[in-house]
Amino acid sequence: MATILFLSCSPRGADAISSRFGREVVDRLQQRERDAAVIHRDLSATPPSPASRAFVAAVVDRVDEEAAFAESEQLIKELEQADIVVLATPMHNFSVPALLKAWVDQIVRIRRTFASTPSGKEGLLRDRPVYVVISSGGWFTGPSPSGALPQPDFLRPYLRTIFKTIGILQVHFLASEGTTRGDDVLALALAQARRALDALMP
Ligand SMILES: Cc1cc2nc3c(=O)[nH]c(=O)nc-3n(C[C@H](O)[C@H](O)[C@H](O)COP(=O)(O)O)c2cc1C
Repeated sequence: MATILFLSCSPRGADAISSRFGREVVDRLQQRERDAAVIHRDLSATPPSPASRAFVAAVVDRVDEEAAFAESEQLIKELEQADIVVLATPMHNFSVPALLKAWVDQIVRIRRTFASTPSGKEGLLRDRPVYVVISSGGWFTGPSPSGALPQPDFLRPYLRTIFKTIGILQVHFLASEGTTRGDDVLALALAQARRALDALMP
């Protein structure tokens, strides 16, 4: 039986545009994998801890690792268990929201999810598909409909690099852009994201 990890991280919780479209992606996956189990981790409901002094000491000096890594271990095990990941995130200041950054700092861990080798970092997790659903007030994949230049995008390259670091290469992005520009623009954005989803999962 396949396991889907649904990670959502908007401070708006289940009402968020990203969370709602992420749920659609999960539903689509469940239609394909009829008996798939879904683990929903809502980072707004249970925020991951920011890297603490004890966590840093465990990473750097290997002090009291078991206690310091308890939360990290739980989040990594959840990810390891998943055959497919759906990550729903808003764009915050051209990048990921703080809640998602905290999760990243918990799961990207030397000697556990990546190894440091003479030729660089090597991912230690098995590859699996990750569907990243992004919701943004403006446009970043290309110019806005009125022709304004796209915003800087640190979100997609960042998440691609993070997942590659731990061994996950199959990362797909589905963006809903222009979400703060009125209901009509939002409806168009969601229609476009659904078409992209149809193309990914015909
Ligand atoms: C703190 C903060 C920062 C934001 N930064 C950006 C940004 O850099 N670019 C952008 O297009 N929208 C930005 N937005 C708008 C959100 O991306 C947009 O409202 C999005 O649809 C929210 O998604 P959600 O409903 O899933 O939370 C920002 C919103 C907040 C609250």
